[in-house]
Amino acid sequence: MKSENVIVEKNQGQALVTEHKEGNKKKLYIESYGCQMNLNDSEIVASILAEQGFNTTTKIENADLVLVNTCSIRDKAEQTVRKRLQKYNAVKRINPTMKVGVLGCMAERLKEKFLEEEKIVDLVVGPDAYRDLPNLLKEIDAGRDAVNVILSKDETYGDVSPVRLNSNGVSAFVSITRGCDNMCTFCVVPFTRGRERSRDPQSIIKEIQELADKNFKEITLLGQNVDSFLWYGGGLKKDFKKASDIAKATAIDFAQLLDMCANQFPKMRFRFSTSNPQDMSLDVIHVMAKHKNICKYIHLPVQSGSTKVLKNMNRQHTREEYMQLIDNILEIIPECAFSQDMITGFCGETEEDHQDTLSLMEYVKYDYGFMFAYSERPGTPAAKKMPDDIPEEIKKRRLAEIIQLQRSHSLYRTQAFIGKTMEVLIEGESKKSNLHWKGRNTQNTMVIFPKEHYKIGDFVNVKVDDCTSATLLGNAVGYSDNN
Ligand code: SAH
Ligand code: F3S
Repeated sequence: MKSENVIVEKNQGQALVTEHKEGNKKKLYIESYGCQMNLNDSEIVASILAEQGFNTTTKIENADLVLVNTCSIRDKAEQTVRKRLQKYNAVKRINPTMKVGVLGCMAERLKEKFLEEEKIVDLVVGPDAYRDLPNLLKEIDAGRDAVNVILSKDETYGDVSPVRLNSNGVSAFVSITRGCDNMCTFCVVPFTRGRERSRDPQSIIKEIQELADKNFKEITLLGQNVDSFLWYGGGLKKDFKKASDIAKATAIDFAQLLDMCANQFPKMRFRFSTSNPQDMSLDVIHVMAKHKNICKYIHLPVQSGSTKVLKNMNRQHTREEYMQLIDNILEIIPECAFSQDMITGFCGETEEDHQDTLSLMEYVKYDYGFMFAYSERPGTPAAKKMPDDIPEEIKKRRLAEIIQLQRSHSLYRTQAFIGKTMEVLIEGESKKSNLHWKGRNTQNTMVIFPKEHYKIGDFVNVKVDDCTSATLLGNAVGYSDNN
């Protein structure tokens, strides 16, 4: 897939920068790998460290502190980080006082082992321990290594106002849940990010208000599993059944949260990610249909088109139920776009299972997708119970087949936009031409068009007259009524 569509891999390993705070003398170099949740966590970390006298820098040689927010989702993600650590090591020889910290999922997975395996590392901090950074920094300043990988029942950083890193000033992510309880057998996330908990809706609304005040135009509500959002006064999702009757009666679910956001900020565009088919309710779809400012796009990972494989993955639905869900959504929102995550070569996947994946894709014709060969992760239920028995060449071949099919579906979808006029929010300059803007339509497809007199942050109607499989090309025909 073209890079524009790879939401999860945007900003991989870039040095992240934010506005400088007056008077801050220390320099922080921070990079983030993996999902948007990690990028958003890096914004929380930068916010906490701004209070500790740090401003961001893009020059690693000048840094007092180097932080890398890591991803464990596949082996390759971890190898990338190991390579970066070698690079930091070379810099440390020039700048020996520089401290290096590892954050995020790899920190959580490897804990103290990191300090032994990678001598360069001074600091290891898991995703729920960022509030402890000021104390941990004191430890390393005193010459001791510091580790905090405690997972929390209620940490949501609700009251930490994230500073925006590498922001376009137009679109921002707001976390609404942390952790995941789904225990898909292949997935390391429940172990690295802990049990699922939701953030106080009041603090979510407050953060969106701050963004609206700064003229942001689009918010993506983020979580490993947003449909499972449930606020009942705080605490783990799994403890909801033990909550008081009044807490249960006044609980707020995802459909209600989305409705609140869309009502309160009618000029703001809303997106959300990621949805899980087993938790997605039609209430959410009705809320989407009701509000013009909720984008008509759902990232709805399926992982496999075979019911047998889905069962082995501990996904709580069959192939048929997933297809039914898509049908139900399209009945309510005919123009809704979908994207997928897919894994090829999961334990025991036969050629027939693979054909089921291809035929499910054919049924849905996703707008785009994120496709991966299965990578066994230590400690997961699959690693413990199921042999990783599909040879690498077969995984790769199946992956190539689904990528090729996805590309043809993406083209089918982009071609269907030709001749149509659609609202686009301008996010920035096109990567390929400084005479063109880029932005996305409600379905999340990238649209490129000549700049004319329009500005970043404008909502513009664009008539599309050409496309590739990843991008629409057209011309603005005027402002949309959302300006
Ligand atoms: N609910 C999450 C999913 C996180 S992981 C979210 O917010 O997106 C993102 C994707 O990585 C998964 O949907 C899955 O397709 C893929 N993935 C997870 N574990 C994997 C593994 N062990 N090997 C290959 N791909 C994996
Ligand atoms: Fe992972 Fe499944 Fe949760 S893919 S993040 S365990 S929904």
